[in-house]
Amino acid sequence: MSSQPVAVFDSGLGGLTVLRALRARLPHEDYFYFADTRFLPYGDKPEVFLRERGVAIAQALAQRGAKALVVACNTATAAAAEAIRAATPIPIVALEPGVKPAAGLTQSGVIGVLATTRTLHSERFQRLIGNHANHVRVVAQPCSGLADAIESEGPTSSRVEALLDTFVAPLAAAGADVVVLGCTHYPWVREGIARRMPAGTVLLDTGEAVARQLERLLAAGNLLGGGHGRLAVHTSGAPQQVTATVHRLWGEKLPVEHWEP
Ligand code: DGL
Repeated sequence: MSSQPVAVFDSGLGGLTVLRALRARLPHEDYFYFADTRFLPYGDKPEVFLRERGVAIAQALAQRGAKALVVACNTATAAAAEAIRAATPIPIVALEPGVKPAAGLTQSGVIGVLATTRTLHSERFQRLIGNHANHVRVVAQPCSGLADAIESEGPTSSRVEALLDTFVAPLAAAGADVVVLGCTHYPWVREGIARRMPAGTVLLDTGEAVARQLERLLAAGNLLGGGHGRLAVHTSGAPQQVTATVHRLWGEKLPVEHWEP
């Protein structure tokens, strides 16, 4: 079993920012990455759809032989983490916005959270705030359209720049000194966000924490190691198009195949 791949999934190619951290920490694992491009973006989809889709994907990945699953999507986690855990017999790492570390780091007492509408409206996010950020002011900014614009037009496109102008300004105006990148697509536009905030603003993503958690779970299940550092990218969309987007974001060409859960 330890020679089987770790599955990683997202609505699209945001999860590659998490995969990068996983490979940095666990370079010898094999990875099966699934981008559910056909349904990108998740951020504006109904919760019940995301729950059913998330469970179907997780079950199919487990059946395909994945030894563990990383849900590399805050939106899918917000809508479906409990259902996925209940329905899937392999270790699951689900990620959520880094509100807790942000609340511990802020000096100004104001943290910003950039995420999808679905994530910010979820019960899970409200709980996260209630449990860990009651003592600070949280400026939660939904970024509708940003994840898909990053993929379709590129992280430095004028469309993305315009969206960042709109979404980051309220955080700077409110005096946030820590910004949570609450969607796995947003590390692709880290520079663009940093440029719009005062110097010294901390930008937090959860890639490294997720990698440590995956390592713990694999070790606990005696599943660590056994791979060859292989990476296979799969999409429910059009492989040719996704190949070009992977190249633009990841910086090198990776083979992309069609896969449907
Ligand atoms: N990458 C996803 C997340 O972390 C969502 C992007 C989307 O499909 O809206 O929330």
